[in-house]
Amino acid sequence: MEAALKRELGTSVLRPTGHSGGGCISQGQSYDTDAGRVYVKSNSKAEARRMFEGEMESLSAILQTQTVKVPKPIKVIDVPGGSTLFVMEHLEMRSLNRHSEKLGTQLADLHLHNQRLGEKLKKAGNTVGKSGGQTDIQFVDRFGFHTVTCCGYLPQVNDWQNDWVTFYARQRIQPQMDMVEKNSGDREARELWAQLQLKIPSLFCDMEIVPALLHGDLWGGNVAEDDSGPIIFDPASFYGHSEYELAIAGMFGGFSNSFYSAYHSKIPKASGFDKRLKLYQLFHYMNHWNHFGSGYRGSSLNIMRNLVK
Ligand SMILES: Nc1ncnc2c1ncn2[C@@H]1O[C@H](COP(=O)(O)OP(=O)(O)O)[C@@H](O)[C@H]1O
Ligand SMILES: [Mg+2]
Repeated sequence: MEAALKRELGTSVLRPTGHSGGGCISQGQSYDTDAGRVYVKSNSKAEARRMFEGEMESLSAILQTQTVKVPKPIKVIDVPGGSTLFVMEHLEMRSLNRHSEKLGTQLADLHLHNQRLGEKLKKAGNTVGKSGGQTDIQFVDRFGFHTVTCCGYLPQVNDWQNDWVTFYARQRIQPQMDMVEKNSGDREARELWAQLQLKIPSLFCDMEIVPALLHGDLWGGNVAEDDSGPIIFDPASFYGHSEYELAIAGMFGGFSNSFYSAYHSKIPKASGFDKRLKLYQLFHYMNHWNHFGSGYRGSSLNIMRNLVK
């Protein structure tokens, strides 16, 4: 593995540092190289390349907005023998604490970035953003992403859709339901989902949703800080409803009041927010059910029971 890394990075120095460990999905290790310190995630699952390519594209997209700090992605590498590596810039991180409020502000800026591009485009009579250089980010008027991204190791269907509610029902919940069906054939889940689908449009009355670039897996384990401010990492990005982002944040904690108040001072809660948040948590509970087993079944069914009432 280290020989492949050296070759692919074109570095003569490759020295492991004391930083190693892992998240919920992959193993990690830092190395000093000719070009500085890098962080290397490795995973031997068959899906690892797809997962890391999605992470690389997500980090690139967030990086381009210049709103929140993320590690700069470097390369996805297949190692002879089966595992896949993802190399990125190493960042010296500690737990989010001092910079919570700043994360709220910067996350809102990330979510507003595409909308602001759209506003600029309108003002300039549809010329700005089209005539710019190749690397300019373009306004995105649909929901999805140009590649599959994985929340955990399971792929998300990111095919472009004009309508968010359709996107969320068909490309987020339905694939999770299909996996449950395949693994356990849960009749109760199937019946509740049939009822909930009829109810979903009523949770979105009079909402105008502008696609927002999302981190997509923003739980407490994927945020940190350094002296300069907050850092987010391990994204599973796509263009979606900004409210979706706060769903997993609320499930496992780790975000203070100052984070939420800073965020909502830029993106105020719209009417019906709390119910939609539950609807968005349904995806994450089901995704956990499909990753980690039926310990998450009860929460998934409860959300559906409450929403169809
Ligand atoms: N770029 C990085 N620089 C330094 N440490 C990192 C970097 N990325 C991740 N880590 C460390 O690895 C841990 C898990 O990373 P993460 O990307 O969330 O892995 P997983 O995909 O397995 O959840 C983080 O909590 C952090 O301690
Ligand atoms: Mg993680």
